[in-house]
Amino acid sequence: MIDDIEQNGQDKRKRKAFDTVRPATVAAVLSPYASGAHREERDRDAKLEEAVGLARAIDLDVRLAETAPLRRLTPATLIGKGVVERVKSAVEEQGIGLVIVDDKLTPVQQRNLEKAWQAKVIDRTGLILEIFGARARTHEGRLQVELAALDYQRGRLVRSWTHLERQRGGFGFLGGPGESQIEIDRRLIGERIVRIKRDLEGVRRTRAVNRAGRKRARLPTVALVGYTNAGKSTLFNRLSGAGVMAKDLLFATLDPTMRSIKLPNGRGCVISDTVGFVSDLPTHLVAAFRATLEEVVEADLIMHVRDISHPETEQQRADVETVLRELGAIGEGEGTPLIEALNKIDALPEDVRRTLQTRSATGAERARQYPVSALTGEGIDQLLEAIGDCLAGASEAREVSVPLSDGATIAWLYRHGEVRSRRDDGEMALLTVALDAAASAQFERRLAR
Ligand code: GTP
Repeated sequence: MIDDIEQNGQDKRKRKAFDTVRPATVAAVLSPYASGAHREERDRDAKLEEAVGLARAIDLDVRLAETAPLRRLTPATLIGKGVVERVKSAVEEQGIGLVIVDDKLTPVQQRNLEKAWQAKVIDRTGLILEIFGARARTHEGRLQVELAALDYQRGRLVRSWTHLERQRGGFGFLGGPGESQIEIDRRLIGERIVRIKRDLEGVRRTRAVNRAGRKRARLPTVALVGYTNAGKSTLFNRLSGAGVMAKDLLFATLDPTMRSIKLPNGRGCVISDTVGFVSDLPTHLVAAFRATLEEVVEADLIMHVRDISHPETEQQRADVETVLRELGAIGEGEGTPLIEALNKIDALPEDVRRTLQTRSATGAERARQYPVSALTGEGIDQLLEAIGDCLAGASEAREVSVPLSDGATIAWLYRHGEVRSRRDDGEMALLTVALDAAASAQFERRLAR
C-alpha cells in the first residue's frame, strides 16, 4: 500500500535550492511513537494506517508513510536527527510538499522541521482541522471548525491571515504563501474569533429552541456515535431512508444530521448522525465541537456504531468511550443509556458471525449489543425493536416528592418527563410524572447522588 523510501538513497546531485513552496498534494506521513512503555500500546502500523487514511480522505497523494521511533528527547524537532535526515532525502527525491507528523508539534518544532525539510509540516491537530474543514456542511459546522482553526493558527504564527479567508474547503494549512510573506494580524484574528463566537451563540440558541420543541413534542432522540468509518452514515440511511452522504472516506460526516423515524412499536424518535471519533482527538478540538456533541450529551439513547470486522474494534470502542466519558455523556451510574450496533457483520467469517448472533439472541451478554449489517440490512429489525424498547420502556406515571428548594430537579422532571399533576405541600412538591425508561433511570441516579 505504501511506497517506502530507500533509507540511504540520497542523491546529492538532485538537491537544489528550495525557494518556493511545492504544491501540497504529494505528502508524507510520519507516525512517531515512544519506545518506552508509557506510550500507547496501539499497534503502530494500525495507527500509521489511520493517519494515512485521514490524509487520503483529503485527497493527498501519500508517497511515504513511516513510523518514527522517539528514542530520546529531541525538543527542537521532536523526531530524531536520523529520521529528519532520511525524510529530507525523500522530500527532495519525491517532490513531497507536505509532511504530516501524526503527533502534537509545538510551533517551534513545526518551524524547525519546515526549515529542515523545506516543505510544509502539519501535525495531527492541523490534519484533523483540515478534514473537519473539508467536510463541514452546515453553517454551524463551518463556524466551529473555523474557530478551532483560528485558535490553532493564532498560536502558530506561521501562516498568513489572507490565507484563512480563502474558503476552499479546508482551512489552508496545506498551501499558501511561504514564511517570508507571512504577517499575522493578531487583531484581525481576535476580531474574527469574537464574531464567530457571537454567531455560534446565535446558532446554538436556535438549536436549543429546536431541542426544546422536540422535548415538548416528546420525541426522544437517539444519537449515533462511533469511530470514524464505522458505518454511522450508512446505518443512519438504513434506519431513516435519508440521503446522507456515505462513502468510504473518513469523516464523511461532520454536522449532526437528524431524521425522525417510526419504530416498530409505533412510536417516533429522532435519530442523529454525528461526527466520527478518532483516537487522541485533541482536547481543544473536543471543546470546539461541543455544539455538535451536545446532541450526544442530550440524547435519550446513545447508539454506539462499531465496525466489528475491524481488527482494532476493541481499541476503537475504548477510544470512543473515553471521549464520551470526557463529555459527561456516559459514566459510572450516570449519563445516558447506551446500546451498541455491531456493524459490518457481513464482513465477518460465518462462524464468528453466528457466535455473535447467538450470543446476542440469548442475551448472555450484559451489554446491549446488536449485530447488524447496515449494508445488507441484516439485524436492522432487531435493532429498531431494541431502540423502541429502550426508549419506550415504562413510560408510566409515578409519584415523586421533591423538596421545593431543589428547583433543579423539579425543572429536570418538567424537561424530561410529562408532569401530570403537581401539589406543593409545605416544603415539598408532590408530582405525578410519566418518565420513560431512560429518564427513569437517570432520575434514580439523580436521587442517589
Ligand atoms: P465517518 O463519517 O467518517 O465518521 O464514517 P461513518 O461512520 O459515517 O461511515 P460510513 O457510513 O461513511 O461508512 C464507511 C464505509 O463502511 C463505507 O465504505 C461503507 O460502505 C462501509 N460500510 C458501512 N456499513 C457497512 C456494513 O454493514 N458492511 C460493510 N461490509 N461495509 C459497510
